[in-house]
Amino acid sequence: MIRIGIVGCGHIGMVHAAALEQLVNGGLVDARVTATFDADPTRAAALAVPHGATPAATLDALLDAVDVVWVCTWTAAHIDTVEAAADRGLPIFCEKPLAPDLPDSERVAAALRRVPHQVGLVLAHAPVFRFAADLVASGRYGRVLSTILRDDQYFPIQGMYGSSWRGDVTKAGGGTFIEHSIHDVALLGGILGDPVDVSARTSSQFGHAGIEDQALVTLGYADGTTATIASVWHQILSRGSSRRLEIFCEKAMLWTENDYLGPLHVETETGVEILEAEAPPWIDRFAGLAEYAKPIAQYAEPSKAFLDSLAADGPDARGWPDVEAALAAHQVVDAAYRSASHGGTPIPLRSQEHRAE
Ligand SMILES: NC(=O)c1ccc[n+]([C@@H]2O[C@H](COP(=O)([O-])OP(=O)(O)OC[C@H]3O[C@@H](n4cnc5c(N)ncnc54)[C@H](O)[C@@H]3O)[C@@H](O)[C@H]2O)c1
Repeated sequence: MIRIGIVGCGHIGMVHAAALEQLVNGGLVDARVTATFDADPTRAAALAVPHGATPAATLDALLDAVDVVWVCTWTAAHIDTVEAAADRGLPIFCEKPLAPDLPDSERVAAALRRVPHQVGLVLAHAPVFRFAADLVASGRYGRVLSTILRDDQYFPIQGMYGSSWRGDVTKAGGGTFIEHSIHDVALLGGILGDPVDVSARTSSQFGHAGIEDQALVTLGYADGTTATIASVWHQILSRGSSRRLEIFCEKAMLWTENDYLGPLHVETETGVEILEAEAPPWIDRFAGLAEYAKPIAQYAEPSKAFLDSLAADGPDARGWPDVEAALAAHQVVDAAYRSASHGGTPIPLRSQEHRAE
């Protein structure tokens, strides 16, 4: 049995623990959450008790007692846990973003590369975006001309987000673009490939220094086409986090308003095809209310993939998305912030600069 330790027992630590519990109780993985640690011991205890786990008094105590670590602290604290776990050779599931800025993300990546790892860019596993990626890659609708992705959620220092660190640039690194839209950057990377440059405009309307609550970011591609991400934190507390993706190809427009199962709408001159993505069949083993099975599966599917890989390949296991995918997204985020600080000037991406050398 793989012993799982969760470090950081807030919102996403609880979500991962709930998803892992469903996998364990459904007999879908041979693993269990056995230890928790949080800088706030009451949080570690509150998460441990319902899972029959042991709250650890220190990070070292947790690392001594587990086989794999889920790093779920706020962003600035990822680095300490990742480096300590990697020094012991422990596999790591690290939440996104890796760190608040690019240099620290590269340090986190260097530690993660030493061990089996996976990054919490969970949209890479969403069936609706895999549909879109496959259709685009097939070329049946011609080249991609333009892509528009709108990502919005309410300012996440309230409501179901019972913490305030997302208003603190030293802990979060920035606002809606790094904290939420790093998912969008990674998912567009999976569909459209690497951009060659980035331009961005950002603004902060809610008074948190260094925390943009709006970002309009344009990714430029080698063939001259563009993709635009509009990323917004608003104050509509009744509105859940949502995304709308539109991909205009030469002979079809693909769109979805649901970032897990879609459906994906494919409009061509012969009509509109509606492609319904399927949740994994094994979610019928989940206990509890059926309405929670699919939201939980969004996190259970990537976790199961990582645990399956660990069970099969041990130290040679490879999770997906890995640090290279995460770093590519961080490079785009970093370039977007540099562009915004220069009035929206396009910034070439470092990999492209290197290729040009
Ligand atoms: N993949 C996703 O869909 C997703 C969703 C939400 C959050 N996240 C990411 O997960 C991370 C946590 O977000 P959250 O919403 O759970 O925040 P949160 O505030 O709810 O929880 C963070 C927890 O980390 C603890 N912590 C801080 N420093 C620590 C340290 N050094 N050691 C141990 N514990 C420490 C805090 O006490 C807190 O309990 C962030 O990086 C966030 O971007 C990812």
